[in-house]
Amino acid sequence: MKKWSGSFRIWHWVNAVVVMGLLGTIFLRETFLNVRENAQTIADQLIKIGVTISNEQAKIVAKSLFAPMWDWHIYLGYALAFLVVYRIALFFTQSGKQSFQFKELDLHHKLVSVGYVVIYVALFFMALSGLIIHFYQELVLLKETAHDIKELHEAVYNIILIFVPLHVAGVVVADIRDEKGIISNMINGN
Ligand code: HEM
Ligand code: HEM
Repeated sequence: MKKWSGSFRIWHWVNAVVVMGLLGTIFLRETFLNVRENAQTIADQLIKIGVTISNEQAKIVAKSLFAPMWDWHIYLGYALAFLVVYRIALFFTQSGKQSFQFKELDLHHKLVSVGYVVIYVALFFMALSGLIIHFYQELVLLKETAHDIKELHEAVYNIILIFVPLHVAGVVVADIRDEKGIISNMINGN
C-alpha cells in the first residue's frame, strides 16, 4: 500500500474540500441563486402585491443575492491556485511521485494513475484560466479573449465534475474489496 506523508495528506484533504466547495458554488449558481430564475420569481411575487418592476430591476436584486455567494468561487479559487503550486512542490517528494512510478504498477493502477494525471492537468488549467478571467483587465486582455477562456474554463469543469464522484466511488469500492484501509491510509498515513 502507498505511504502518504503528513504534508501530502493535508494537501489531499484541503484540496478535496476546496474542489468540492468550488463545485458547490457552481451548484448554487445553477439552482437556488440562479439570477435569471430568481429575477423572474422576484418580479412575479412583487406583482402579487401590486408592485411592477422591469426585468432589469429584478435582475439587479437577484444579482445582489448571488454576488456574496459567488465571492466564494473566487476565494476558493485563490486557495486552489495555492494548492496547485503546493502539489507541484510535492512531486519532488516520495509521497508525491509514488503514483507515477509506472513500471512498478499493474494495469489497473496504471489506469488509476492516468486518471490522476488528467485531473492534475485539469486542476492546473482551472486555476490558471480562472485567474486569467478574474484579472483580465489587469492583464490588459480583451473582453472577447476573456470570454473565450471562460468557455474553456467551463468545458474543463466537466472533467472535474466526472472525476470527483468516480474517484470517491473508486476508493470506497477498493476499500471494501481488495485494498482494505486505503481511505484510512490517506487519513492517518498507515
Ligand atoms: C471525500 C472524498 C474523498 C476520499 C474518501 C478520497 C480518498 C482518496 C484516497 C484513499 C486516495 C489514495 C488512492 C490511491 O492509493 O491511489 C486519494 C488520492 C487522490 N485524491 Fe482523493 N478522496 C476524496 C476526494 C477527493 C477530491 C474531491 C479530489 C479533488 C480533485 C481528490 C483528489 C485526489 C487525487 C488527485 C489523488 C491522487 C494522489 C496522488 O497520488 O497524487 N480526492 N483520494
Ligand atoms: C475546480 C476548480 C473550478 C471549477 C470547477 C470552476 C467552475 C467554473 C464554472 C462552471 C464557471 C462558469 C459559470 C457560468 O458562467 O455559469 C466558472 C466561472 C468562473 N470561474 Fe471558475 N472554476 C474553478 C476554479 C476557478 C479558479 C481557480 C478561479 C480563479 C480565482 C475561478 C474564477 C472564475 C471566474 C472569474 C469565472 C467567471 C464568472 C463570470 O463571468 O460570471 N474559477 N468557474
